[in-house]
Amino acid sequence: MTHIPGATAGDLQGKPTSASRTTLSHIMTANDTNLLGTVHGGVIMKLVDDAAGAVAGRHSGGAAVTASMDEMAFLAPVRVGDLVHVKAQCNWTGRSSMEIGVRVLAERWNESTPATQVGSAYLVFTAVDAEGKPRTVPPVVPETDQDKRRYQEAQIRRTHRLARRRAIMALREERAAQGFDEE
Ligand SMILES: CC(C)(COP(=O)(O)OP(=O)(O)OC[C@H]1O[C@@H](n2cnc3c(N)ncnc32)[C@H](O)[C@@H]1OP(=O)(O)O)[C@@H](O)C(=O)NCCC(=O)NCCS
Repeated sequence: MTHIPGATAGDLQGKPTSASRTTLSHIMTANDTNLLGTVHGGVIMKLVDDAAGAVAGRHSGGAAVTASMDEMAFLAPVRVGDLVHVKAQCNWTGRSSMEIGVRVLAERWNESTPATQVGSAYLVFTAVDAEGKPRTVPPVVPETDQDKRRYQEAQIRRTHRLARRRAIMALREERAAQGFDEE
């Protein structure tokens, strides 16, 4: 059974997911296109990083840097004239890191049709102090059943990230010990 955090941990008061949940909205223009005429993936990634950064800053109460971005999925093309909504929330917290989950939705800027999901991503932000060193963050307190599911899924991703990192480091050390000399 996965542990879902309570209201406090250590001497930091927990913060509910809703306290930092953020939506960033932006209309796509001709400046945002790639050579195919649809919106460049990098433009969407910048919005994703911006929205996630706002959540991380709000949750941690200060500066936070992007440590990693993974599972960025582009589900459908985004077009000029689309109003893009980037919805971000803190899914999980560790000691100094936070997983921020992001959903990207798009709708025509001048039509009243419902928005459809065009992308998603998970980012890890680390809260830092004035020297850029990691600092402790308040535990996130998931509120709804959906928040609790996201918390549990984030823990699985965290476990996999750490295991993958350890396995790659072990392989590199093994190869270095065997005399491979790579840049
Ligand atoms: C992120 C950063 C602060 C981590 O510093 P560090 O000295 O390696 O600190 P640690 O190894 O103690 O890691 C701190 C936390 O970040 C997490 N973390 C560090 N690197 C990570 C990575 N690549 N992916 C996911 N999480 C990571 C750790 O798991 C740890 O989490 P926890 O405290 O909740 O257990 C540092 O690597 C950094 O400043 N990176 C550059 C960030 C940046 O400039 N981003 C913008 C790019 S333009």
